[in-house]
Amino acid sequence: MATTSKKAVRGRAAPKLAKLGRGELLTLIDFVRYAVSRFNEAKLAFAHGTPDPVAEAAFLVCEALHLHPEQFEIFANARVTTAEGRTIIDLVHQRVTTRKPAAYLVNKIYMRGLPFYVDERVIVPRSFIGELLESHFGGDGEAGSLIDDSSAVERVLDLCTGSGCLAILAAHHFPNATIDAVDISKGAIDVARRNVGEYGLDGRISLHRGDLFAPLGNTKYDLIITNPPYVDAEGMAALPPECRAEPKLAFDGGADGLDVVRRILRDAPGHLTPHGGLICEIGRGRELVDEAFPELPLLWLDTEDSEGEVFWIAATDLG
Ligand SMILES: C[S@@+](CC[C@H](N)C(=O)[O-])C[C@H]1O[C@@H](n2cnc3c(N)ncnc32)[C@H](O)[C@@H]1O
Repeated sequence: MATTSKKAVRGRAAPKLAKLGRGELLTLIDFVRYAVSRFNEAKLAFAHGTPDPVAEAAFLVCEALHLHPEQFEIFANARVTTAEGRTIIDLVHQRVTTRKPAAYLVNKIYMRGLPFYVDERVIVPRSFIGELLESHFGGDGEAGSLIDDSSAVERVLDLCTGSGCLAILAAHHFPNATIDAVDISKGAIDVARRNVGEYGLDGRISLHRGDLFAPLGNTKYDLIITNPPYVDAEGMAALPPECRAEPKLAFDGGADGLDVVRRILRDAPGHLTPHGGLICEIGRGRELVDEAFPELPLLWLDTEDSEGEVFWIAATDLG
C-alpha cells in the first residue's frame, strides 16, 4: 500500500479544485468523504469538540458554508459552488498540514449547541462539565439533581475559565446567578471577554485575571465549577500535535497532574456557602485523587463520553 510521509504532506500546496476534478466532488457529503480520507491518511488526532474524522469533516464543511452543524443533514446532498469548494479544500489542507485543531482554523467551536469564539490563546472547549450542568444540576429537587433549585443559585465561580464557555453555560443554566470567572492568562481573559460580550452577559459575568482564588477576596459561592489543568508529566510528554497547538498552561498539572487540583481543594471551603458545592474535572486521575484525599466523600460523575472524570463534593463534606 502506498504511504504518504508527514514531510511530503506538509510540503505540498493545497490541491487545486480543478485538479481534484470538478464533477467528482459535488455535494457536501462528497467533500466530507474527501476530508475524511485526507484526515485518515494523515493520521490526525480528534479530541477537540469533534470526536472522529466524520464529525470533524462535517464541522469544517458547515463552517466553510456558514451553516450550523445541525443543518448538515438537510443539505448533505446539496451542491457546493466552486468558490465554496475551494474554501473547504483549503481548510482540509490546513488541518492536515498544520495539525491545528479545526476550531482554531475557523475560530469557532460549539459546546452544548452554542457557538464560542476560540483562538490559540485558549484551549478548545470540551469539558464534560457542560453536559453535567444539564444532567445533574436541573434543580427543582428532581431525582439525581445535586442542587435543590437552580433558580435559587445566586453566586457561581468558574475557576480556570479559559474561553469563558462554562461561565456562559452556567449563566444560562442558573438564571438568577451572578458569576465570577478567573483565569491566570491574559490572553484567555481577553477571549472570555469577547465571548461574554457576544452573549450579552457583561452584566452577569465578571472576569478576573489571577491565580485561582487570589482575585476574589472572601467572596463565597453557591457553586464552584472548575476544569483546571490536570495532565501529568507523562501525559504532557505524549500530547498529540493538536494539543501542543493549545496553551501549555491549560494542561500542565505538574508531576502527578494534581498541583492545581490540590490547591483548589485546599482553598475551596473558604469560598463556599454552607449549602454550596464544588464540581471539578480531573480527567483520568480518579484513582490518584481518591488516594490523595481518602477523607473526602467525592461523588464521581459520568457523562455520555466519560466515566468518573469529574467529581462533586458538597461544602459540608469539604470541611
Ligand atoms: C483546561 S483549561 C479550561 C478552560 C475552560 N474552563 C474550558 O473548560 O474549556 C484550564 C485553564 O486554567 C487556566 N489556569 C491555569 N493555571 C491557573 C491558575 N493557577 N489560576 C487560574 N487559572 C489557571 C489556564 O490558563 C486555562 O485557561
